[in-house]
Amino acid sequence: MSPEKEGDTLCFFINGKKVTENHADPETTLLSFLREKLRLTGTKYGCGGGGCGACTVMVSRHQPATKTITHYSVNACLLPLCQLHGAAVTTVEGIGSTKTRIHPVQERIAKAHGSQCGFCTPGMVMSMYALLRNQPQPTMEDITQALAGNLCRCTGYRPIVDGCRTFCQEAECCQVKGGGACCLNGEQTAGEPEPPRLFDKEDFLPLDPTQELIFPPELMLMAEAANPKTLTFHGERVSWVSPASLEELIQLKTSNPKAPLVVGNTNIGPDMKFKGILHPLIISPTRVVELFEVTQTPQGLWVGAGCSLTEVRSLLEKLVPQFPAEETELFRALSRQLGLLGSQQIRNVASLGGNIMSANPNSDLNPVLAAGNCRVSVVSDGGPRQLPLDQDFFVSFGKTLLKPEEILVSVFIPFSRKGEFVGAFRQAPRKESSFSTVTTGMRVLFSEGSRLVQDVSIYFGGMGPTTVSATRTCAALALRSWDDETLSRAYDVLLDELVLPPSAPGGKVEFRRSLTLSFLFKFNLEVLQKLRETVRQKHYMFPPRVCVQNVTTEELPEKMPVRPLPREIQPGLQEFQHVSKDQSDQDPVGRPIMHRSALSQATGEAVYCDDMPPADGELFLALVTSSRAHAKITGLDVREALRLPGVVDVITAKDIPGQRVRKMFDYEEELLTDSEVSCIGQMLCAVVADTRAHAKRGAAAVKVGYEDLPDPVFTFEEAIEKSSFYEPRRRIERGNVTEAFETVDQVHEGEFRMGGQEHFYMETQSMLVVPVGEETEFNAYVSTQWPTLIQDAIAETLSIPSNRVTCHVKRVGGAFGGKVMKTSILACITAVAVWKTNRAVRCVLERGEDMLITGARHPVLGQYKVGFMNDGRIVAADIQYYANAGNTVDESTLVAEKILLHIDNAYNIPNLRGRAAACRTNLPSNTAFRGFGVPQSIVVVENMLNDVAAVLRRPADQIREINMYRGPSVTHYKFEFSPENLLRCWEECKVKSDYAARRRAADRFNRHNRWKKRGMSVIPIKYGVAFSDGFLNQAGALVHIYKDGSVLVAHGGTEMGQGLHTKMQQVASRELHIPPSKIYISETSTNTVPNTCPSAASFGTDANGMAVKNACETLHQRLEPIRQKNPEGSWENWVQAAFLEKISLSSTGFYRGPDLYMDWDKMEGRPYAYFTYGVSCCEVELDCLTGDYRTVRTDLVMDVGRSVNPSVDIGQIEGAFMQGLGLYTLEELKFSPSGLLYTRGPSQYKIPAVCDVPLAFNVYLLPDSHNPHAIYSSKGIGEPVLFLGSSVFFAIKDAAAAARSECGSVGPFPLDSPATPERACLACASPFTQKIPAGKPGSFQPWALNI
Ligand SMILES: Cc1cc2nc3c(=O)[nH]c(=O)nc-3n(C[C@H](O)[C@H](O)[C@H](O)COP(=O)(O)OP(=O)(O)OC[C@H]3O[C@@H](n4cnc5c(N)ncnc54)[C@H](O)[C@@H]3O)c2cc1C
Ligand code: FES
Ligand code: FES
Repeated sequence: MSPEKEGDTLCFFINGKKVTENHADPETTLLSFLREKLRLTGTKYGCGGGGCGACTVMVSRHQPATKTITHYSVNACLLPLCQLHGAAVTTVEGIGSTKTRIHPVQERIAKAHGSQCGFCTPGMVMSMYALLRNQPQPTMEDITQALAGNLCRCTGYRPIVDGCRTFCQEAECCQVKGGGACCLNGEQTAGEPEPPRLFDKEDFLPLDPTQELIFPPELMLMAEAANPKTLTFHGERVSWVSPASLEELIQLKTSNPKAPLVVGNTNIGPDMKFKGILHPLIISPTRVVELFEVTQTPQGLWVGAGCSLTEVRSLLEKLVPQFPAEETELFRALSRQLGLLGSQQIRNVASLGGNIMSANPNSDLNPVLAAGNCRVSVVSDGGPRQLPLDQDFFVSFGKTLLKPEEILVSVFIPFSRKGEFVGAFRQAPRKESSFSTVTTGMRVLFSEGSRLVQDVSIYFGGMGPTTVSATRTCAALALRSWDDETLSRAYDVLLDELVLPPSAPGGKVEFRRSLTLSFLFKFNLEVLQKLRETVRQKHYMFPPRVCVQNVTTEELPEKMPVRPLPREIQPGLQEFQHVSKDQSDQDPVGRPIMHRSALSQATGEAVYCDDMPPADGELFLALVTSSRAHAKITGLDVREALRLPGVVDVITAKDIPGQRVRKMFDYEEELLTDSEVSCIGQMLCAVVADTRAHAKRGAAAVKVGYEDLPDPVFTFEEAIEKSSFYEPRRRIERGNVTEAFETVDQVHEGEFRMGGQEHFYMETQSMLVVPVGEETEFNAYVSTQWPTLIQDAIAETLSIPSNRVTCHVKRVGGAFGGKVMKTSILACITAVAVWKTNRAVRCVLERGEDMLITGARHPVLGQYKVGFMNDGRIVAADIQYYANAGNTVDESTLVAEKILLHIDNAYNIPNLRGRAAACRTNLPSNTAFRGFGVPQSIVVVENMLNDVAAVLRRPADQIREINMYRGPSVTHYKFEFSPENLLRCWEECKVKSDYAARRRAADRFNRHNRWKKRGMSVIPIKYGVAFSDGFLNQAGALVHIYKDGSVLVAHGGTEMGQGLHTKMQQVASRELHIPPSKIYISETSTNTVPNTCPSAASFGTDANGMAVKNACETLHQRLEPIRQKNPEGSWENWVQAAFLEKISLSSTGFYRGPDLYMDWDKMEGRPYAYFTYGVSCCEVELDCLTGDYRTVRTDLVMDVGRSVNPSVDIGQIEGAFMQGLGLYTLEELKFSPSGLLYTRGPSQYKIPAVCDVPLAFNVYLLPDSHNPHAIYSSKGIGEPVLFLGSSVFFAIKDAAAAARSECGSVGPFPLDSPATPERACLACASPFTQKIPAGKPGSFQPWALNI
């Protein structure tokens, strides 16, 4: 269809303003319309598939039938623009602004420190705002549900939840006001000074619903207007028709049976975007009233297929209390399932009919609807018909029994009958906002007054290409008594009936099969419990044990409760020290100052790279990447791409005027390769076009010829076998390990594997390179941690001097180590495109491309041998590490070195040997990630200690304590230090967490619960801060004082959410003796501060802080004579006077940094400036039947010295902990056998969400700690805590050990990281998992590589 074709005018409102579009393109989403057309860039792009919530906006509609207005949150990235006719959209810009009035939601999230990099903040704000429009006083459950689909990679969610909690009525605890001891714990005694708080609730604006935008009256009239007409919109490739009646819809579908009916677009949208499926015609049935009708009959409910899942759920929840419980079994099961399906934003638009008709094998609704005997009513030009939703309805993947021209009109949901029970269970990689691994609906009907099964139906999702019925299992249960014998036969039949081949798509074969058994077992427990409740109700009439549906208490001992895991997030504690009484009120150092851009971030005003307006004639760049892991390139055919509309050029390696490679040590990495590829995702060429869509279509049209090369290397084992390593490989040893092994009581050997981790910064790699137009000068606006590297790299690539390239970084939407090396390569390619076309070029990676191309944290294999005495003392340890580095060296050998520097962690092991090798493989190159190898290093060591404890049958914390450094100590690389603060953290953490008493309580819990276990752990960290390459510790700053007294600070560090600019503002404020409000930081740029070092290694504040301090001291000294002349004058007076006296008001600052080094030949050095210490105590509750777990409580004690800004530091602590929790328990990168990364978006790769926040999360900054090595006695904190996320892993392992002991299994056992529900469940070795035969290794090709 051509865009010239005449269509209707689309009419809707955005933020109270009318929008009319005469050429609405059906392929345009609301997100791109907002960002590109209206330049409302507050709404962010994070994934494009409904999985991250960054694009959340609110949609409001007038409902003529009820004369009400509905407000709901939606993902703008999935919402087709054409679907908005008659709607009012509210974006983050529409609710408040720093220029006028900020909205209370924006204010509270910002002031509660819930915005770090800020990229997720507008989405969070809008989810909460939409909730408040419907419920001005929500419950905590409402809040966690509303935020469940919004991901944040920085904060750890706690501060966001606490900011939102202030809207709850029930929040009466003192913690609502901020941090400090909790009144409910009785921790604050009368007369004590109030502990300092992170924020003050009293400062907040009240929520005033009368201030909200009103719904446009014009839209009400539009909605009420009679005789609506068919609407059509035509785009470049797709047309959209929205009929106004069922008859018209039937006609349309008859003549266009292949055209999809788009309602929520949550299935069709991702298909079009990610699979490239093109539908030339889309039919929107949202104005056909029959599809939204709800009718109640004596047998049940007819629910319109167009109703959203949210509407279906509220309908069911409304009806449940109106009927006897026995009639609403199915309603309740469906409602429970709906509560966990997708996110609020998805449920608000996804339709019931769409879920059924998508026939997704993992649909959560279909198994329950089918088990519940639901029916559907369909219509076509042949007339209406009804058919059951049963095993015949779901034909194959994505296909149902309906004919293509048939329309699903409504779904019948019956009332349940007396003696009928319905259950629904699901297990997903993440508890919420995640497609399930296995999902089920089960129903049993007992004959009146007996336990004889009259009818039963069981359906599963996730066990095949579509929803499947366990028909034979049902037959084994039917007409039999519901007892142990029958059920035990049913488990066997089920196991036999639902077989998955060992290489089944999706993998997790053993786990999935075991879940089917666990679910049936859970259903049994639920049925028994319900039967028992029925008995209890009849006690008055029948003596106990002698009643109709008799269930004896022996059948349901207390050891088998079926209650769900706990989920309410409690207010946490955040304890930190007051600043000294002598400190001036104006001096902000040591106080919890809000992130300086938090309000701009919360209002959507903060400008990220891709928010910059387009330059004149700007082009967009899309990359073509390799689809083979190891192959020769035989041809690159770009002709078709060049013929496509909008495509301007294709950039290949031959276009690079200067250096075509980036050099790293003795290795080279090609920017674009045209000869041989060594991983899937390697960059081959780039297409530049006038729009994003055109560039992407162009890239897809490039044809690449390959000739496969033999034997790609993917796994550790393959790399070891082929000696495929990057040099140098490192080794370190103290004592005499070999001899020491001869002297010990016991020796144990073990292995620990841990997967990698995707950075998942919310802002994907983004850059804009603009030619200045003369003398080869360029401005590069890049989201990077290291502007100087970008400058150098572009200059080398274009073969021009560095003084022609300026790199600007205003802010970075999260980085975590991932915006250094690959970013420089992407910037070089973009710069070549600018060079060739002489036009500005923008490159912003899609989430999937970013995950594919840019690499991740290194997966690591650790093999250890440990020698110890029977009293628990470890005398010798020998650890070999392998890191999977991928196809280029990047920083991998440095990561391997850092791994070895941390193998002692907190322990004084007298004979200690470590070796580390970076394996060269045909996977995308891995790179730096927060912690730089330390999280991989120490987890192996801690696992080794756990093994020692298990062998000795002693608590793991005792073994840790016995082996800790004490007194003046020396590391294995001969670095002297005092572990005093480490030991203080350890003791304090045990006290604060009440470890001893809670450990006893957990053991008691475990004795009383067979299928739920509690596990605890206490884990320490000693983390070395600064770069071991001493030259990287230098920093520069430039401070200008303007004549009006305002101050502009520039320094070499980048702001990426870690609050660096806020801390620098505090430093400048203290040194210049002026309030922070007079100080501004605009950006980091290479033309203000040259030759900077990366913002990394937890050293940003230490280095840049000293440089800013140095510059400010100079200025302060220059002003001293002026001040002395006029001591009563103001800052402005002094500045004016200084100007008139020709005193320079601008100064650079410099910090040399410590001269650190590591001599690997001598195995000694001083690679760190100092250590940051911390200890985490964690408790989890584990569902042994499903592997699902919840972190019940976490207490963290951190030694950050004298914190420069406690709110920023606590933010880093909580955020890093949650990122570590993700690393060790949740996040899994999966590769296909040919080396393709499967997990390329939030739908497949799960980072922690609100549902993963510890229910009680307490952070304590160690008091009275001083650090002579860093600014104002503070300590670096960006990275260390990430490792402490492993305390969740070790608590899960502890819980699994308790489960294993039920079957008599004691001693060390393997559990690799991440401890996903799959691994945790299998580690519990329940009778169900034991039943599943494991596939014989080598006899099949697994779905995913075990790298
Ligand atoms: C991020 C995300 C998370 C999700 N999580 C889950 C989850 O946890 N569990 C789960 O079960 N699902 C989940 N889903 C799937 C979601 O529930 C379904 O995509 C949704 O219900 C489909 O409804 P829709 O209105 O958006 O369908 P659309 O995408 O608009 O249409 C889907 C298909 O249904 C057909 N169709 C729609 N209505 C009719 C009708 N009346 N008659 C005939 N055909 C019709 C269309 O032709 C089209 O082929 C998730 C989806 C996303 C994007
Ligand atoms: S960008 Fe829309 S949900 Fe991620
Ligand atoms: S603040 Fe949430 S992603 Fe950065």
